[in-house]
Amino acid sequence: MPNQIINLFDLENLFNKKLPPDIAGYYNSGARDEITLKKNREVFHEYELLPKLLRDVSRIDTSTNLLNCLLKNPIILAPVAMQQMAHQDGEIASAKAAHIYGSPMTLSTSSNYSIEEVAHHNENLFFQLYFAKDRTITERMLKKTKKYGFKAIIFTVDAPQLGTRERDERNKFKMPDHLSLGNFKGTILEKFDNRDGSSMNMHNELLFDKSLTFEIIPWIKEVSELPVLVKGILRPDDALLCFKHGADGIIISNHGGRQLDTATPTLKQIEPIRKEVGKEKLLIVDGGIRRGTDILKCIALGANAVQIGRPILWGLNYGGEAGVGLVLDILLKEFIETMILTGCRNLSEITRDLVRKI
Ligand code: FNR
Ligand code: LAC
Repeated sequence: MPNQIINLFDLENLFNKKLPPDIAGYYNSGARDEITLKKNREVFHEYELLPKLLRDVSRIDTSTNLLNCLLKNPIILAPVAMQQMAHQDGEIASAKAAHIYGSPMTLSTSSNYSIEEVAHHNENLFFQLYFAKDRTITERMLKKTKKYGFKAIIFTVDAPQLGTRERDERNKFKMPDHLSLGNFKGTILEKFDNRDGSSMNMHNELLFDKSLTFEIIPWIKEVSELPVLVKGILRPDDALLCFKHGADGIIISNHGGRQLDTATPTLKQIEPIRKEVGKEKLLIVDGGIRRGTDILKCIALGANAVQIGRPILWGLNYGGEAGVGLVLDILLKEFIETMILTGCRNLSEITRDLVRKI
């Protein structure tokens, strides 16, 4: 049967065939040699499962409590920029699909639809912050998120400048002219310019403030009046510093291999970071999560929840809101199957002893 969709890779293959190379390239590429991009995925094969049997798995509960939000499952939509290049309904479709599955959706600062346009489409919306050099812009966005009912700020710190994606350089990638960045309407940041190379780089020179340190975390909390999760942490000492400066959680991430190439794959860092920060702290992880078994491994090693990035785009392009719904449906079914086959009735039964590093 043509175009039969069984798993997320089927969607990825279709996506690569359908989209123009410059746009598919921007979405799917990683920094430089794309070593981290590949390793994020490969590392999951280095961990084996040791299932527990005869545990009465007739009822499975995937729910979890995170930042006082009761979630039906531990899968979160990661912030992914410019989703209208994949489907005209862009971030609105993602937010709606996630809502149906009880998953939070994270809106990127660099989204096509704005904070106010996406608000109300999902009861658990998070806002990802790129900290603009012009603090009045940053402040305005942060105040809006609270006003429009967002539940948390995801402060991305692994991008003091954009990592170079060589595919974008070669393709002279640029957001198409008919699109704009919704949160920057009427400012210099609304569109990309026309210079050579990837215009993302130039754009983000204005957007990313390289002078930031951990001391900015309390400022973001104060201005937004929301919990702040720091995204992009890979080291246990940095994780601890985040919490010392008042962070409410961290997201272990290497930006899907798009920033520092040869940075360590995220799965390896969950356990050391959990050991350093203790049992109670909120740890979320992303990077290469494509299978139900991947989710279970992340949780067994100490994560509270996981995020998916690129699969959102594959689903969006396949069928807008229904396509993102399909991605969540596939992943959730695989995750439940994994829980059943490993003898876990709820997330607290997903323990470290289920996973062995080869
Ligand atoms: C991203 N990511 C990202 N992160 C962020 O904090 N703000 C952003 O605007 C974006 N934009 C973005 C665009 C695209 C096209 C991709 C693929 C990724 C990173 C994202 O949140 C997440 O960390 C990774 O995508 C997770 O890895 P996987 O699931 O894509 O392998
Ligand atoms: C990216 C930025 C926008 O990864 O986060 O392309």
